[in-house]
Amino acid sequence: MSAPPVRFGVIGVGGMGASHAGFLAEMPETRLVAVADIDSGRAASVARATGCEAEADYQQLLARSDIEAVIIATPHPLHAEMTRAAATRGIHVLSEKPLAASVAAADAMIEACRAHGVMLGTVFQQRTEPSRRAMQEMIARGELGALVRVSLSVTLYRPQSYYDSAPWRGTWRGEGGGILMQAAHALDQLVWLGGMPARVQALTLTRLHQIETENTAIAILDYGGGKAGWFTISTADTLGGERLEISGDRGALVWENDRLRHFEVPKPMSEHLPSAPWMFESLGGWWREVETAAAVSNDPQSYREIVRAFARAVRSGDASAMLATGEDGLRSLELANAIALAGRCGGAVELPLDRARYEAMSQGLCGDSIAEGFGSQSC
Ligand SMILES: NC(=O)c1ccc[n+]([C@@H]2O[C@H](COP(=O)([O-])OP(=O)(O)OC[C@H]3O[C@@H](n4cnc5c(N)ncnc54)[C@H](O)[C@@H]3O)[C@@H](O)[C@H]2O)c1
Repeated sequence: MSAPPVRFGVIGVGGMGASHAGFLAEMPETRLVAVADIDSGRAASVARATGCEAEADYQQLLARSDIEAVIIATPHPLHAEMTRAAATRGIHVLSEKPLAASVAAADAMIEACRAHGVMLGTVFQQRTEPSRRAMQEMIARGELGALVRVSLSVTLYRPQSYYDSAPWRGTWRGEGGGILMQAAHALDQLVWLGGMPARVQALTLTRLHQIETENTAIAILDYGGGKAGWFTISTADTLGGERLEISGDRGALVWENDRLRHFEVPKPMSEHLPSAPWMFESLGGWWREVETAAAVSNDPQSYREIVRAFARAVRSGDASAMLATGEDGLRSLELANAIALAGRCGGAVELPLDRARYEAMSQGLCGDSIAEGFGSQSC
């Protein structure tokens, strides 16, 4: 007999939350019980469309005795407080990305869920894409050997109207940062596939958009032991798309806009490089297309897979059933915060990130507008 569906609530039913509500109402593994939003008209309309109840606020939703788990899809600075409130009532939390606005807030979410014995997951639906899974499996099997370089370039082009669509977008108080908060998926891919750097240096800037936060970041990643990389992301760049290169001792992978290619070499670089007799001798190698199932980038199916895995973890009590945990959300956010700090303050920033130093910087930027004279003293 199959397990009974997990009874969910959704907090925040704007763009993302309304989609989650629809999935939860349809899937056999889940049941949508109620939604809450400070916009009561929006909550009522989603409740009507999905056949669930609308609660006046999130506290009332959490106070219901029939909710086992919530999806939190409000602006990210609200995720931590809502997670703490849910965990305190023994309710499992699947949080939208980024997990929170700052790594200290994400630490508190993880601690609250641990203390109350509930699951904490992150909506990293890109992890379900077949070509990205293939990369992760090839790296885990050692097909590339020890990694030497990880490079990722992403453009999420957005016109000004995107930032004008909601007052919280592109502000420090409302979003806890700019493109680096939108970079959650990209940074998750970097960490999931390439590991966590030991230190970062960065340039962050704002071009063309009328916003408070950065819309462009370029970072140098130092993993130690000769492994290094770079990361660039922008919402104001003519060249769109995404390109990821991962290079190892025994080969390399290039993922570009859903196409995955594997470069194989006849001999590991660590053997060829010290011993090749001719000074210009090439390492050689050949390209191979890696065939995977069709890409499902941001397909509804990818969100369903994340939710289904989370529901399985709740029913089984086994956190390893999740495709992305709270700790995974933390790592992506920690890298985002480190790059923001390096961009603002200059110099190299070590990981694990100094939480107090990051809080001092971000709080200095969370005034009604960017604090006058904010400068190196807060770095
Ligand atoms: N996984 C993804 O690919 C993906 C895509 C888009 C957005 N997101 C994330 O989802 C979250 C929401 O983004 P969105 O684009 O849906 O934003 P949105 O502005 O469309 O929706 C946010 C909703 O939260 C509600 N809200 C605000 N404060 C609230 C409160 N105190 N209590 C209850 N409801 C409240 C708002 O009224 C609104 O309906 C963000 O963290 C965002 O980063 C994730």
